[in-house]
Amino acid sequence: MKSILFVCLGNICRSPLAEGIARKIADDYQLAVKIDSAGTGHWHVGETPCENSVKVAHMNGVDIQNLRARQIHYNDTGFSHIVAMDRQNYQDLQDLGFKNIYLIGDYGNLNGADIPDPWFFNGFEGFHKVYAMLEQSIQEFMKKEIV
Ligand code: 4NP
Repeated sequence: MKSILFVCLGNICRSPLAEGIARKIADDYQLAVKIDSAGTGHWHVGETPCENSVKVAHMNGVDIQNLRARQIHYNDTGFSHIVAMDRQNYQDLQDLGFKNIYLIGDYGNLNGADIPDPWFFNGFEGFHKVYAMLEQSIQEFMKKEIV
């Protein structure tokens, strides 16, 4: 079975949102795929996703409240697809020795763009943009790489 690990820095804003969106797509299309997320950093291990990610997910019918942050681990080499949210995540994953790394910005119509780190946003507005970017890119990623 194929398996996807979405990776960002903290595993509290972008990658939990990506995980929730991918789970919804997998449900809708009845895809047999394992889906998880992790952070390259350790700072937020055990925490729930950030409030604005929970909120924007909920507004779109996606429930991510029960996810908990974890740090990426060498056992995660078992995932068939490791998906970075931005170029720094991609570089960090390469440096850690992971293979099968994908940049989510290479899908949808993002033209290689990074998913901006919403930790540094003031307020909620940027989370709508992040959600829209993730939704279109993950849909195409799943269609091309997983189905
Ligand atoms: P994420 O956002 O990588 O999308 O989960 C961040 C959350 C926390 C930090 C950085 C990014 N931080 O530096 O604590």
